[in-house]
Amino acid sequence: MIIQNSTNIIKFVLDDKIVELNLSNHPQLKPTTTILNYLRSLPNHKGVKEGCAEGDCGACTVVLGELNENNKISYKSVTSCIVFLPVIHGKQLITVENIAQIKDGKTILHPIQQAIIETNGSQCGYCTPGIIMSLFTLYKNFNNPSLEIVEDALTGNLCRCTGYKPVIDAASKACTKNGIDHFTEKEPEIIKLLESINSNKQAISIVSKYQKYFRPLTLKQALILKEKYPSAILINGASDIAIKQTKNKEFLTEIIDISSIDELKYFSEDNNYFYFGTGLILEKLKAISKNNLPPLYNILKIFGSLQIRNTATIGGNIGSASPISDLLPLLFTYKSMIKLKSSKNERTIKISEFIKGYRSTDIHTNEIITEVIIPKPQKGVIINSYKISKRKDLDISTVSAAFRIEFENNKIIKNIILAFGGMAETTKRATKTENFLLNKNWNMQNVEQAMNILYNEFEPISDARAEADSRKIACKNLLLKFWLDI
Ligand SMILES: Cc1cc2nc3c(=O)[nH]c(=O)nc-3n(C[C@H](O)[C@H](O)[C@H](O)COP(=O)(O)OP(=O)(O)OC[C@H]3O[C@@H](n4cnc5c(N)ncnc54)[C@H](O)[C@@H]3O)c2cc1C
Ligand code: FES
Ligand code: FES
Repeated sequence: MIIQNSTNIIKFVLDDKIVELNLSNHPQLKPTTTILNYLRSLPNHKGVKEGCAEGDCGACTVVLGELNENNKISYKSVTSCIVFLPVIHGKQLITVENIAQIKDGKTILHPIQQAIIETNGSQCGYCTPGIIMSLFTLYKNFNNPSLEIVEDALTGNLCRCTGYKPVIDAASKACTKNGIDHFTEKEPEIIKLLESINSNKQAISIVSKYQKYFRPLTLKQALILKEKYPSAILINGASDIAIKQTKNKEFLTEIIDISSIDELKYFSEDNNYFYFGTGLILEKLKAISKNNLPPLYNILKIFGSLQIRNTATIGGNIGSASPISDLLPLLFTYKSMIKLKSSKNERTIKISEFIKGYRSTDIHTNEIITEVIIPKPQKGVIINSYKISKRKDLDISTVSAAFRIEFENNKIIKNIILAFGGMAETTKRATKTENFLLNKNWNMQNVEQAMNILYNEFEPISDARAEADSRKIACKNLLLKFWLDI
């Protein structure tokens, strides 16, 4: 056994019963089977739909119920097309078939379903199961939610025919009962089932002739595995990696899934620094940053969708080193550092030195990024973040930017960082423009000259999102916006 005391059987609650799946020798299922494909292989869970298979449309939304620190169940919506089966180990999997209640042989619709009918919130119905599941999560988590909260819950669900107004109306109509429903009645029973699975928490290790999938519970186990399997792909939320399989049809042969390592999910601070464990999901990071790092909060508000932020992590965003990452420009401007660990060593490196090129980093094959360290911006430091995309929500950036500026005597620029995504093969600083502005007055004349330098500083590509020239214009205009904003 590669991890001591591990199991190859995943257990979860579905339809109020514990389901056990042995994934080492199952005739159809593999550890990289998505929840969507698993559910669609069952006779009675075909409500879940595949629209895009890449986390964008929400037709496959299901809800995961998980025991929280108060021994209650927290409900999270996820896009089941890009979540692998072992992730539901120890959780409750809730699908659209579970939402209505059957009592004395009669079907009683859930308040969310009833409201969708009353507001005419469904036409062809393809998107409806996913929308119901997103609204169910909203119902369980909020009472009388604001329009902003309702829209955020629905950002990850596309509808081609009904339009969103009736769906938003349904949410406002239904979410008024403090989350009370038949799930509330059953919660003690489900908690017992979840406790019985989780009482003996085990790492998962599934080894077949063609595939190895490990889900360690501790960083130590993960680092030993990374030493033994240097070419294994690390996954956390897998929102980047799952698409290799669902869209590019790649077969993932060796995987180390670090998403159940609790010791990587922390946040702490001291007088000078914020410390983030890299296993923090982005929705948690968003909540933490609201008061601590507002520019980070602002960018996370428009990052992917709630379903994506419920699984994707800060570690995965850094690890993917995407040229259009929304977090990297900001992490550059915060002068962030990351901590990397292997089973023998530990090192801390500036994030700007860690990112090397197109989706390439300075990581060693036996390392895991364990921590992101953000120095607390001193008084007088101004940082802003921007994202230009074709659609405000749930869209990848055409150009993203984060800027940092500090003044002497309120007008001379004594420190400046202009970091961009989408302008080069990797996140890059506009160093020529920064050097031009350094020690100059922060006035319109200098900003206009800097904009011209900035226009010529990058040679971006043309692609489906924008022509190269549009990117260059957007890039210089973002500097103007920064000037206007401050
Ligand atoms: C629908 C959709 C919308 C998206 N929207 C956005 C968006 O708005 N902005 C944006 O920037 N990105 C977006 N993304 C991209 C992706 O979700 C993010 O990059 C996310 O943060 C990745 O995190 P993850 O935990 O899912 O990474 P994973 O897919 O698990 O991993 C990504 C990479 O990082 C590596 N990795 C993960 N954790 C570690 C670690 N601790 N140490 C070392 N390496 C590690 C993995 O090996 C892999 O190479 C979107 C993706 C989807 C599918
Ligand atoms: S099928 Fe589109 S988000 Fe999953
Ligand atoms: S009702 Fe047809 S896609 Fe939404």
